[in-house]
Amino acid sequence: MTDKEAIKEEILSLSKKIDHYNTQYYQNDTSEISDYDFDMLIQRLVELEEKHPEYRLADSPTLRVGGAITKNFPTVRHKYRMLSLGNTYSAEDLDDFHNRIVKSIGDSFEYICELKFDGVAISLWYENGILTKAVTRGDGVQGDDVTPNARTIQTIPLVVKGENIPEFFEVRGEVFMTKGAFQKINEGIAEENKEREVAGKKPLKLLANPRNAASGTLKMQDSSVVAKRKLACFCYSLMGDSLPYEGHGDALKQLEKWGFNVSDSYRRCKTLDEVKAFIAEWEEKRLDFPVETDGIVIKVDSFHQQEELGFTAKSPRWAIAYKYKAESASTTLNEVTYQVGRTGAVTPVANLQPVFLAGTTVKRASLHNANEVDRLDLHLGDMVYIEKGGEIIPKITGVNKTKRPLNAEKVLFIHECPACGTPLEQKEGEAAHYCPNILSCPPQVRGRVEHFIQRKAMDVDSIGPETIDQLFSTGLIAEPADLYSLNKEQLISTLERFKEKSAEKLLEGVEKSKTIAFPRVLFGLGIRYVGATVAEKLAMAFGSIDKLAAASFEELIAVDEIGDRIAESVIEYFGEERNLTHVEKLKQAGVQLEMQAGAVVEVTSDALAGKSFVVSGVFAEFSRDELKDTIKQFGGKVVSGVSSKVDFLVAGDKMGPAKLEKAEKLGVQIISEEEFKKMVSE
Ligand code: IVH
Repeated sequence: MTDKEAIKEEILSLSKKIDHYNTQYYQNDTSEISDYDFDMLIQRLVELEEKHPEYRLADSPTLRVGGAITKNFPTVRHKYRMLSLGNTYSAEDLDDFHNRIVKSIGDSFEYICELKFDGVAISLWYENGILTKAVTRGDGVQGDDVTPNARTIQTIPLVVKGENIPEFFEVRGEVFMTKGAFQKINEGIAEENKEREVAGKKPLKLLANPRNAASGTLKMQDSSVVAKRKLACFCYSLMGDSLPYEGHGDALKQLEKWGFNVSDSYRRCKTLDEVKAFIAEWEEKRLDFPVETDGIVIKVDSFHQQEELGFTAKSPRWAIAYKYKAESASTTLNEVTYQVGRTGAVTPVANLQPVFLAGTTVKRASLHNANEVDRLDLHLGDMVYIEKGGEIIPKITGVNKTKRPLNAEKVLFIHECPACGTPLEQKEGEAAHYCPNILSCPPQVRGRVEHFIQRKAMDVDSIGPETIDQLFSTGLIAEPADLYSLNKEQLISTLERFKEKSAEKLLEGVEKSKTIAFPRVLFGLGIRYVGATVAEKLAMAFGSIDKLAAASFEELIAVDEIGDRIAESVIEYFGEERNLTHVEKLKQAGVQLEMQAGAVVEVTSDALAGKSFVVSGVFAEFSRDELKDTIKQFGGKVVSGVSSKVDFLVAGDKMGPAKLEKAEKLGVQIISEEEFKKMVSE
């Protein structure tokens, strides 16, 4: 064998080997080789290919490992528009769809039904059998060229071999991340976050759901990261000029033969009843399908008939999507546990047999309060229906009583705090039960610390939930103010995994929080009904914690937007001795408990009382803030948006035309800086 032949041989055998390991890894989830050894094989192949490009295989595995970095994805015009599908949600809608077709082309036709995969649509262009472009849907007319990223997806053929390959054809499909791959990535992130917490770093965000994960990954700049993310693709359409296939079913078969990944879940349906049976069959089955699906796509099979039916402006008349209702699942209720929040409110939580729902595994659902537990008449072991409201916290929507186990135990709301054993109380007019042991009920204390250090309050990002647990369980802190008396030696000797560096980092974060302005400190105290905005209003109005603590009910409700409920809550808070002691401790620690000079405006005149102003643009004599302060000083009110309630718009240079137009339309008086000055000098 000559040297050249030997190289050709080595390239071929390396390519085969790597393909084999890739199949194992991507399709069978196993690896027979270490990452390092695998990388060495790739490296060797890259080297040989660089020296002898003439021997590189058109579908060389080196094309799949990525490496190309794309800063801005070029825009590409689609050859055929990428339309969307009309949606239906009920059997009646489906009947209408069917009847429209019958009316137009008669009743001799067949459907192909497919799952509607929930990922990102992709258009793949093949020229002479080679993948030349992968384009996202974009606005349907043009999309982004994501070819380097798409090449890393194992289930997208780089080269198509076989018979009848047209010079040009386009394949459309859905790029997705399987539920399993998604979960693994999130588990990895959660694991990494544990280490980050100890190192005092901000936690990384978990991926929201498989669909977002797929679309986010496909648009990543570094294709070698995409290669590691295990995306996959199901193909569902073959297009081209004058292709020889009778219908969609034939085209799918051809795609399979050419090596495209066509899901075998599709079915030919000769009647509408068969379509409905397919829909019913997958309603439950799709929950166990490895890919997220949100419905069924129903397509008229014959291309000739498709052409006859044509398109509306947005979608084909020969296809429709049947969407399943808000994702729901059923599972077993194992136990009801109770959570105690920082305010002492006790929330019942349903612990469920884990079930996959709309992108995540659900193990728990909130039951809100005792009334809800009663309403559902829950028994342990019940089959319950769960739904995702707003896609975040799942709720139990009902119980399948026909499946209730014999002698199942009824769930009765507890009478004592699950954390500290204190008898629970209910406040008049409220559904919630409370644990009154404010001082030493652990979750309440911990919750108050968590609230105090959160970003919107003191922003101590050097302490995560696990550290709070430790600080609390080791007795180092009992309330937020105790954070300011921690020291390094104490932390290192008491906390697990804490070393010099991590202790210093924690203390730095605490120290830095002393510069946080008063309104956020006030919010951090966690006074009931005093959220971030209310805290800001109170801080501005009273200027210091001492003045706020001394304020009467009347003085409190005189502040704009402060009502009875907030006023009562503030009075109750400062009526408690222990709260005053806590505030005193914070004061001693050097936390900001009053507004900095310049931040509060003393009202010295009522010349503008009862008038509200919007300030916009740039002014000659005042800065915008000075102008606002002047309005306040003269008893006026500053608001941010123009509405019919606004009296004056003080218009400076370069203000937006939209605001001006709106003010004119609503009859708001528009005044100049000069005119404003006159108003306050009179
Ligand atoms: S066919 C003319 N088949 O759903 C439209 N689409 O709203 C032809 N999708 O953007 C699309 N699974 O991303 C078709 N089996 C399937 C599908 C499917 C998911 C997505 C696709 C498209 C959207 C339509």
